[in-house]
Amino acid sequence: MVNRHAEAARPTAVPAAAPSHSPAWLRSALLGWYDRQRRELPWRAEPGMRPDPYRIWVSEIMLQQTTAATVSQRYAAFLERFPTLADLAAASQAEVLHAWQGLGYYRRARALHAAAQAVVARHGAALPDDEAALRALPGIGAYTAAAIRAIAFEQPVLPVDGNVERVLARLRRIETPLPAAAKALRAASEALAAGERPGDFAQAMMDLGATVCRPTSPVCLLCPWRAACAAHAAGLAEALPRRAAKPERPIRRGVAFLARRSDGAVLFRERPPEGLLGGLHELPSSPWREGPLAMADALEEAPLSAEWRLTERRVRHVFTHFVLELTLAEADVVADMDGLWLPPAEWHRLALPSVMVKLLRAAGFSPRQTAGRSSQA
Ligand code: ADE
Repeated sequence: MVNRHAEAARPTAVPAAAPSHSPAWLRSALLGWYDRQRRELPWRAEPGMRPDPYRIWVSEIMLQQTTAATVSQRYAAFLERFPTLADLAAASQAEVLHAWQGLGYYRRARALHAAAQAVVARHGAALPDDEAALRALPGIGAYTAAAIRAIAFEQPVLPVDGNVERVLARLRRIETPLPAAAKALRAASEALAAGERPGDFAQAMMDLGATVCRPTSPVCLLCPWRAACAAHAAGLAEALPRRAAKPERPIRRGVAFLARRSDGAVLFRERPPEGLLGGLHELPSSPWREGPLAMADALEEAPLSAEWRLTERRVRHVFTHFVLELTLAEADVVADMDGLWLPPAEWHRLALPSVMVKLLRAAGFSPRQTAGRSSQA
């Protein structure tokens, strides 16, 4: 899946002619550091090898909202299941969602799948390399398009995410709080973007942000840019970037219903295909609403009539725009009723978001029965 890429192989020495702390000096210093210190990550090509754009794309979608450590554990299995873009496009959505388990934020998996089909239809199954065509694909925004262009196609652009913003805010001592600082940060990134080895430079910025220029306790002693860093010189490295206070997330509440049949099977349902946790499985629940929970009203929403017992067990889960609190109600159901009834031994067939894994654990099912189902969605 890789081929020779001679340009990328050449280690970069700091050129004597580069004026101290100029963009050329900064690039050389960081690339030299990357050649010695780069993280070994499963989606990275060996030095000097050019990666398969499809594999880079998959990694960047996974890394949008999931840590490198978690993606490292899941990446190989996903690629084994869908080794090429055409394989992914030909799979069903259910297969893709299933393979995405553990990564969370399933909207990304649906977008990746739809985008693979669009690439087959529009671009002959080869990922395009220009910004407009990439951004026309579901799930690819400004950051991901820049990351793909730099890493997969060696184009001189610098993807700017929160980590890179932090590095730049410190390097240039940008004290304007985020998000108002975005324009100054963009200018700082553009000043550094042009030069050789764009893919390595982009990934070097990511590694510097993740391992040295960390949000707390930055390890300035080990930083290749220490001599040039304005925040370090002012003793402000850890204080930057500043951030405007965020509005608090509202809390939504509901009752989740655990209906248990005498043979041990539990009733699940599938969420609508679009929207939050679309297409995933869940215990039926009352609507999730802000404000105090009216238990009597919520119990009216039970999926079947039975003797529901409201329990003290409650789980809390933080979504991007709200916090969800679900209280568990249980009932033993004798009669055979329609629906998706599954015993614990078959739960591996479900695509369960992590809030549901938490609920099932709160209901007393062992982590082993729900093992591998944990996700960040
Ligand atoms: N975060 C986003 N893209 C990344 C990459 N290619 N390597 C490491 N961390 C990343």
